[in-house]
Amino acid sequence: MGSVSLKIGDGTARFKRATICTSAVNGLMLFSVLTTNLFALYAFTYNPNHNASQNSQNPLQLAHKNISLITEQVSLIMEEIESSQKKLTQIEKELLGYETIDLTKPNTPSELKIFLQRHSLPLGKDSRTGITEMVASIGHTCSKSMDLLSKYMDYKVNGPCPDDLGLAQKLVSRGCEPLPRRRCFAKTLPKLGFLHPFPASLWKSVSDKIVSWSGLSCKNFTCLSNIGKKLGKDCVNCFDLSNGIENQRFVKGKGKNDFMIDDVLSMGDEGVRIGLDIAGGSGTFAARMAEKDVTVITQAFNVEAPANDFIAARGLFPLFMSLDHRFPFYDNVFDLVHAGSALDVGGKAEKLEFLMFDIDRVLRAGGLFWLDNFYCATDERKRDITRLIEKFGYKKLKWVIGEKVGSGKSELYLSAVLEKPVRA
Ligand SMILES: *[C@@H]1O[C@H](CO)[C@@H](O)[C@H](O)[C@H]1NC(C)=O
Ligand SMILES: *[C@@H]1O[C@H](CO)[C@@H](O)[C@H](O)[C@H]1NC(C)=O
Repeated sequence: MGSVSLKIGDGTARFKRATICTSAVNGLMLFSVLTTNLFALYAFTYNPNHNASQNSQNPLQLAHKNISLITEQVSLIMEEIESSQKKLTQIEKELLGYETIDLTKPNTPSELKIFLQRHSLPLGKDSRTGITEMVASIGHTCSKSMDLLSKYMDYKVNGPCPDDLGLAQKLVSRGCEPLPRRRCFAKTLPKLGFLHPFPASLWKSVSDKIVSWSGLSCKNFTCLSNIGKKLGKDCVNCFDLSNGIENQRFVKGKGKNDFMIDDVLSMGDEGVRIGLDIAGGSGTFAARMAEKDVTVITQAFNVEAPANDFIAARGLFPLFMSLDHRFPFYDNVFDLVHAGSALDVGGKAEKLEFLMFDIDRVLRAGGLFWLDNFYCATDERKRDITRLIEKFGYKKLKWVIGEKVGSGKSELYLSAVLEKPVRA
């Protein structure tokens, strides 16, 4: 039970192939060395006029001829060497199995090479999974940020990791997700003595000392409460639990677009037990849900704020990932998914669609999708999101389009509770 079964049969073939490959590299190298030498010998002994009696040209002309001949031969040799090197690099790349990330570049940190190295299974193909080698997972877009990635993987093995959470976040936001693993000790935070027991932890202020401010412009929560809307529409001052606004959310509505948690929970057909909150800011949605015995995972990216540390300090489950990444959850698992304006990644219709399909995937049939104050910048945007939702065939349990006056002009918001249908 639980053991990996390995079949010996196919293994020998694989190893033979690897040996042939290695010999091919050696052969090619030998070949290029030999040809190089032969060319040199040829160039220096070559005499275009075998008949000496015909040598009636003057010596200067001859010398000129000799020199140009040599130059020609040398450039031929150089070409040959270059093409051999290209072939070698190609073979090396194929052996490493990475086409997009060029590990043969001179400044590639050895840790990156070691992490990405493919390892053949010692006994060949695994009969259960069909795999023949162990591979490490890394975002394919990492190849576009090789300079940052190399910096990230340049550290002392078994030593302390560099203080580079900002660099990690930068890489992830450029699509380098997942990041490669590292063999260094991440900086620890002295959380002991600062944490509160659950459920009191849900509403206690979090100390500046137990979150990492690495890579953030603010270095304390006082600073954070002064940057206002910079944290996004769904999280205006959401890290300030004492301002009297954050702890009213989901229990006291300010407008018809704000649904109450009790109302929504009563709509769930077979009960709501587990949920996912997308771009959940400081985790307040999960905190309110925790009081109703609903376990909610809060997806949060540390944009300008130490969201993951904060959510964890409240005794809630933070999920550090960008919204470009496929959700690391199985199909049909959640009873509830909650999302707001953050859903609209850059206003691209296709991007929103990919995200919506992934939300639909992780939500079970009969589960609820709570779209909470989705900001519709234009009427067209409102039509887009409406059309998109209708395509999924969800039952509209609640549907409210309301206006809010924000910064002088009135803004359009959509709030909805939708039930995922059973599809054939
Ligand atoms: C040109 O090369 C030939 C041999 O290939 C040699 O006999 C001759 O002296 C050379 N001429 C000069 C001017 O170097
Ligand atoms: C908070 O950080 C700001 C700079 O970001 C600094 O000016 C201020 O003194 C800090 N306040 C406290 C209470 O540490």
